[in-house]
Amino acid sequence: MKNNLYREFKTFFNKEVENSYFSPGRLNLIGEHIDYNGGLVMPCAITLGSYLLTAPNNDGIFRFRSLNFKDTLDIKLQEGYQKSGETWFNYPLGIIDYFIRDGHQLQGLDLLFYGDIPIGSGLSSSASIEVVTAYALNDLFGCGYSKLDLVKLSKQVENIFIGVNSGIMDQFAVAFGEKDKALMLNCDTLEYKAVDSNLGEHVLAIINTNKPRKLAESKYNERVLECQAALKALQQELPIQNLCDIDRNMLEQHQHLITDAVVLKRAKHVIEENDRVKLAAVALAGSDLAEFGRLMYASHDSLKNLYEVSGKELDTIVEYCSTDKNVAGARMTGAGFGGCAIALVKESAFDNFSKAVTEYYTDKIGYPPSVYSSLIGDGVGLLKEMANS
Ligand code: GLA
Repeated sequence: MKNNLYREFKTFFNKEVENSYFSPGRLNLIGEHIDYNGGLVMPCAITLGSYLLTAPNNDGIFRFRSLNFKDTLDIKLQEGYQKSGETWFNYPLGIIDYFIRDGHQLQGLDLLFYGDIPIGSGLSSSASIEVVTAYALNDLFGCGYSKLDLVKLSKQVENIFIGVNSGIMDQFAVAFGEKDKALMLNCDTLEYKAVDSNLGEHVLAIINTNKPRKLAESKYNERVLECQAALKALQQELPIQNLCDIDRNMLEQHQHLITDAVVLKRAKHVIEENDRVKLAAVALAGSDLAEFGRLMYASHDSLKNLYEVSGKELDTIVEYCSTDKNVAGARMTGAGFGGCAIALVKESAFDNFSKAVTEYYTDKIGYPPSVYSSLIGDGVGLLKEMANS
């Protein structure tokens, strides 16, 4: 499919592609549900992602086509747009809306999208399509935004136009990702370091539950509100701006301020997970994969029991992993409620792992997962290398 994009473009629009772009998906090694609490996360960009091919038109119309979805949209350039229904083109439309409202002079464009990130897999297909659109518009119309501006405006589109109160991790990772590196990102200051993702004899496996995600957005927004309630309670005595401004000891000393038991569980997860990211960074730097793996399992446990965003599908995968001596660690990745788990698997045992986890999961859940070996790739950019294929 990927190699036919240029031909497909011609079929759709009866003209040649003029510019093409790619933005990856992401996975998060550790630091889950941390970004909107101002803490540390460790995501990386993957080699799966979103492709965008464009050519300008003189009709003053945005024409949206996708090789993944049947829905199409032809819409005149106007002063702004609203989200319409639950279709895929809301993401690029939201980005265009932002550019127009921010005062940029755009022109009609023909746009063809293709993505190879499994939809609903929690690998950030939405951030990927937002960022690739923002990058393309910025490039085509010389809008002068920095890459960080593109990250921030894409997050704003997700929060306001789409209506999910997500943090900045996904957009940041898909924009700033680097091949074979993980990003240590401080979500409060937005300072980051690209660190070698030296996995030694291990590879990163992605195991997609293939569970259709339902209610994920409303549950996500509910967690955001619970964290805000925890912060407010702690602020009665502590001069903090984010939950992640304190560590586990500090929380223990002040937990009486949080009277709601559920809210306290959420706060515990966030604060302890942030502490785990610091330990994970040390483990990765020292190539201590056993310790890194232990932290992954601890992260999963906490997401399951304290944050309650896992589910029997993700738990079944992690349960299998914990019995396989070729797996150093495993956890759910992303928002949860279905989606993907990741595992550090000995490269030499990957095929056996893939077979065994598939059997175990299918037996318990009733349908198979999809298992991939993932490569860590670069962030958003021009798609030069495919232009002649
Ligand atoms: C989703 C959101 C991110 C982040 C993760 C959980 O991917 O888009 O901002 O909160 O969930 O870590």
